[in-house]
Amino acid sequence: MAIDFDIKDPGLAEGGRYRIEWAAKEMPVLKLIREQFEKERPLDGVRVSACLHVTTETANLMHTLQVGGADIVLTASNPLSTQDDVAASLVTHYEIPVYAIKGEDDKTYYQHLEAAIAHRPHITMDDGADLVSEIHKNHTDLIDNVIGGTEETTTGVIRLRAMANDGALKFPVVAVNDSMTKHLFDNRYGTGQSTLDGVIRATNILIAGKIVVVAGYGWCSRGIAMRAKGLGANVVVTEVNHLKALEAVMDGFRVMPMIDAAPIGDIFITSTGDINVVDTHHMEVMKNNALVANSGHFNVEINIPGLREMSVGDPERVRPYVDKYTLKSGNVIHILGEGRLINLAAAEGHPASVMDMSFANQALGSKFMRENSETLENKVYTIPEDIDMEIARLKLAAMGIKIDVLTDQQEAYLNQWEEGT
Ligand code: ADE
Repeated sequence: MAIDFDIKDPGLAEGGRYRIEWAAKEMPVLKLIREQFEKERPLDGVRVSACLHVTTETANLMHTLQVGGADIVLTASNPLSTQDDVAASLVTHYEIPVYAIKGEDDKTYYQHLEAAIAHRPHITMDDGADLVSEIHKNHTDLIDNVIGGTEETTTGVIRLRAMANDGALKFPVVAVNDSMTKHLFDNRYGTGQSTLDGVIRATNILIAGKIVVVAGYGWCSRGIAMRAKGLGANVVVTEVNHLKALEAVMDGFRVMPMIDAAPIGDIFITSTGDINVVDTHHMEVMKNNALVANSGHFNVEINIPGLREMSVGDPERVRPYVDKYTLKSGNVIHILGEGRLINLAAAEGHPASVMDMSFANQALGSKFMRENSETLENKVYTIPEDIDMEIARLKLAAMGIKIDVLTDQQEAYLNQWEEGT
């Protein structure tokens, strides 16, 4: 069967296949789900449009949905995150239509999104809510077809909750991000490791001894702060939330406003989900040769348009993923990965072992959506806790780790209230 697609080069497929299979070794929970899906085919006849980072891990998820009976189209959820060899293998070896090219411009990004929407999905699978948003804005005629969606990331869930609060959300969505087996691991350990990986691959700098300023102290940022500290950095955290700031202080980090951190930092990493967290007045006072990167979903956290205006001439690409901006003062600011998520732009995103749990949630979330769409309202749902716990159980089992079991006496003790001091 000939399928439609738009990828960089089908000739890259063989390398992609090896890398997809390499990732599969670290995804035992998804493998179990795939085996179950193969027998039960819970997504038979379901058209899924997925807007995800096109990585080896996503390929394993797509394969799982496919053997579960789904008819899938995949488009990129970020212009810089596509692994072109993976896209080629998905098209060539798995016959999955993919619309994604690393480095595509915004126009192509939206054309690709349109191709995924033209699939007339029953289920949308988003990382950042672009599909849901686009369907609600420009394809309202398709809404009746959609039984529901799933959403991978914090930023997307925030957007969807805003839509639900406005009464604008017209189908139910499962917030995969809100599962504990997603955000406690993917956001913290996945973002932590892959962000430092991205910064290091882009720059080849030594982290030890540097002052690393981490903007935000949510699950992603705390992973970044923890890993930067582990590599010997002196970490400064900036926050707007008193509770999170207090946690950062008690985790041993210096906490201060960005304007105070700006003149002392060597490397700045944003992961807040908000706009202009590193703004022009911050960059104005940064040290010469400061490095600035973002690991949040959208490329809005660093005010790059403002930086352009403050700069003399055009930025120079001094290494792949490093743009040199020279300020009127003569100082240089280096922006990594064009301010897009550095872990996917310059590295390979989160390692497969954490994506195993995130994508187990995606697969089971789409099955949940199919089974419950009749009763769900147009709201944002969390995956039921028993599914979340089962994913944790399977992951531990796959790691060969056993844990204690409550005795009958302990169980009874927890269920009584009479016994005290
Ligand atoms: N988000 C972060 N890392 C990812 C990966 N490896 N695959 C898909 N989505 C991701």
